[in-house]
Parts: sequence; C-alpha cells; structure tokens
Amino acid sequence: MHYDASQPELAHDPFKAIVAPRPIGWITALSAKGEVNLSPYSFFNAISSRPNIVMFSSEQKKDAVAFVEETGEFTCSFATKALAQQMNQTSAPLPRGASEYEHAGLEMAPSKFVKPPRVAASPAALECKLLSIQQLKDLDGNDVPRWMVLGQVVGVFIDDRYIVDGRFDTAGANPIARCGYADYAEVTSLFSIIRPPGG
Ligand SMILES: Cc1cc2nc3c(=O)[nH]c(=O)nc-3n(C[C@H](O)[C@H](O)[C@H](O)COP(=O)(O)O)c2cc1C
Repeated sequence: MHYDASQPELAHDPFKAIVAPRPIGWITALSAKGEVNLSPYSFFNAISSRPNIVMFSSEQKKDAVAFVEETGEFTCSFATKALAQQMNQTSAPLPRGASEYEHAGLEMAPSKFVKPPRVAASPAALECKLLSIQQLKDLDGNDVPRWMVLGQVVGVFIDDRYIVDGRFDTAGANPIARCGYADYAEVTSLFSIIRPPGG
C-alpha cells in the first residue's frame, strides 16, 4: 500500500496511528474573565530546550487557544494511566465557562509562575507563557482551521515522590500517550542508549 496522503486507502486514516505514540499536553488556561479550561492535546510536544519550548495545536479554535490568546499563559499537566479516565472526561465539549475540573472530579493546585492552575493529582506540570499563536496554512497557502500555540516553560512542578536519585522517574510516573483510533500507549519501563562521543 502506498497512497496519496489526501486519499487514504484505509477506512480510517492511519496518520495518527503512524505518528504514535504522541505525548499528551493536558492544558489548563484561564479566560480574561477568570473562567478555567482544562483539555487534552496530543498534537503536543517539546520543540526546544534552553529555552524550553512546547507547542500544542487545536483543530478549530477551541477554548484552550481562545483563553491563552486572552491571558497569555497556560500549564501542561502530565497525563498518567491512573488519571486516564479523568483526562478523557476533560475532552468533553462543555459550554464555555463550565469547568472541566469539576466535570471530571479533579482538584486544581496553584501554579507558582503563572496564573492558570495545574492538575493537583498529576506528578508533574509545566508552567508556560505564550510566545505565539499561528494559524496553519496548507500547500496552496490557504488558511486551515488549525491553530498552533507555542509557549516557553517558565516554571516546573514535580511531585517529590517522582524524583529518584536526582532524576524525574518517567516510567514510575506511568505516562500515557495517544496512538490512533481510540488507542493509548502506557510507559512502564525505559531503556538507555549512550550517544556517540562528540555528538
Ligand atoms: C487524548 C486526547 C487528545 C486530544 N488531542 C487533541 C488535539 O491535539 N487537538 C485538538 O484540537 N483536540 C484534541 N482533543 C480533543 C479536545 O481535547 C476537545 O475537543 C476539547 O477538550 C473540547 O473542549 P473545548 O471545546 O472546551 O475546548 C483530544 C482529546 C483527547 C481525549
């Protein structure tokens, strides 16, 4: 099988199953009025270190993007297997102003460097300030209804229970990541490879 990407030859476009697993940015943002939004984004990744920069991308201009545009800050909480069901509940399309925290029975914890809170039960969170919001274009130069948000990480929360020998215990925190369809991957173990010298 080898096809034109605009005409997938499988019943369900496998794009998101191929670019997998994708980390989940569980984004909290506040509107100018102080309304809170919490929603998961798997079009999410780290794209730079020093400065540490993350991005997430929204299909349609959802509340997370609208709120970040209004107030310039957001947090990304770390999604774990233990929080998977609640994370999924926060993707419900609630009316603007209704809190996904309440809807999913999640507690908020205050951030230190930005106003939006983080998910209290999550082992780690990044506190971010907005760098830019860019509407994406296709190959013909036409605007498409996708918005990419870039933010610089200005604060990092880690639950001390997940710091082992001075390192964040990624596998111990048991992250989940998004695959295609309704599938997720779960990280329970890591392996290490030392990079070649001089790299
Ligand atoms: C695991 C997961 C990952 C998601 N990733 C994205 C994404 O990358 N981009 C997107 O636009 N929507 C994504 N969604 C859907 C949004 O979370 C959902 O549309 C949003 O929370 C709706 O709420 P709002 O209308 O209040 O913004 C994802 C949903 C789940 C469960």
